[in-house]
Amino acid sequence: IPVDDFDLVIFGGTGDLARRKILPGLYRRYCSGQMPADARIIGAARSDFGTAEFRDMVRDAINEFSQKNDCDENKIEQFLGQLHYVTIDAKGEDGWAELKGLMRDGVVKSFYFSVAPSLFGALAERLHTNEISDKDSRIVVEKPFGRDLETAKALNADLAEHFDETQIYRIDHYLGKETVQNLMAVRFGNILFEPLWNAQFIDHIQITVAETVGVGGRGEYYDRAGAMRDMVQNHLMQLLCLIAMEPPSKYDPDAVRDEKLKVIRALEPIAPHHIVRGQYDATETEQSYREDAGDPKSRTESYIALRCEIANWRWANTPIYMRTGKKLKARASEIAVVFKETPHSIFGEEAGKHANVLRIRLQPNEGITLQVTIKEPGPGGMRLIDVPLDMSFADALGDEEDVPDAYERLIMDVMRGNQTLFMRGDEVEAAWAWTDPLINGWTARNDVPKLYDVGSAGPSDADMMLKREKRAWREIK
Ligand code: BG6
Repeated sequence: IPVDDFDLVIFGGTGDLARRKILPGLYRRYCSGQMPADARIIGAARSDFGTAEFRDMVRDAINEFSQKNDCDENKIEQFLGQLHYVTIDAKGEDGWAELKGLMRDGVVKSFYFSVAPSLFGALAERLHTNEISDKDSRIVVEKPFGRDLETAKALNADLAEHFDETQIYRIDHYLGKETVQNLMAVRFGNILFEPLWNAQFIDHIQITVAETVGVGGRGEYYDRAGAMRDMVQNHLMQLLCLIAMEPPSKYDPDAVRDEKLKVIRALEPIAPHHIVRGQYDATETEQSYREDAGDPKSRTESYIALRCEIANWRWANTPIYMRTGKKLKARASEIAVVFKETPHSIFGEEAGKHANVLRIRLQPNEGITLQVTIKEPGPGGMRLIDVPLDMSFADALGDEEDVPDAYERLIMDVMRGNQTLFMRGDEVEAAWAWTDPLINGWTARNDVPKLYDVGSAGPSDADMMLKREKRAWREIK
């Protein structure tokens, strides 16, 4: 479905995120015919570029980062024709008049702040005072949205000076992932699961976001953040919210976000023995985290595992285990909802213990699987085995590469004015209000992360945490 005509300004338009995700994503939407023919994309950054150089940069970015290039060369050139560039000083006066001159009236005006959060306030103010934005404009902001509750509140206040909450789109790209939205479709589009979706029938939930990449060139940022701020406070908590929330009355931004907020507010504080922090260690061929981060004494975690509980009727005493880490054995993100065993086995002890598992695979190989117990085929008597009932996207939708990237979808949602998949200010603050005491706690305890080998499944303490409760992590694969 085409979206309304728009002008999109990307502050930080020559930066890494713009080159890797935003611009190739827009190009893919252009190819699919969703971008209006007159839409303008205006890169704005400090670099002293001209529009021609900007277009060259974007051409290279598309060739390097576009998942699949199903457009021909002519299409790239046509797309580049919609691009413009302005050299701008976020904290000064240079470039603003030129930007104003480029923007059209009567179209959706959106501003993507793909810059350090310290510039959010300055950008919002200049857009306003130069009368570039209006009451229908939208601004898009990226994480990190603050580094604690106080800084997040300050950012929210800065933006609120000139923009209403309905104009602010806080991106968490995990919400744009196909399977993450499918999670809502599965939960609320089927009658099958809801009656079982509670502490009575669910034994526990596991949320895993395992990465094989290290901190790469982002050592400086990452070392001040760590896995808790970089991944848990946003991506993993969003997944947790979607899994645990009450059914919203409708699929509408505030109805969904109200329910997510209630989950965050109901999260119990976590005791220290339910937190395992890890840091990847060198192997013969790989560097350690400390070498990557450039700080031989760093205590920042590149891995974290948590045992969470939600204090409400639906989830009382149901553990939700979350883990995420860098340089692990495989790239694998999934949510596993592990149901309880049947109350009584009519097949006797030798049939073994079996539990249904609903596995929501985010990446790679997106799909949803329900593990059910059946009789092992053949004449061997009543032996039970677990087999998956499978809904892989590759089968259902054809080529996996045709699934739009999270950024593509979210940027189009901005143009449509749909905030459902964006975080509201109070949600972000509530998430920090929960994470702050945990971070402050381990800082005060001088906690040293446990080492794990690059290419492993993380520190053994995380395995112990579940073993103590007679459970085990699912294999990372
Ligand atoms: C980002 C984090 O938000 O998400 C990165 O800052 C992380 O550290 C990335 O690697 C993971 O995203 P994805 O889509 O590759 O799972």
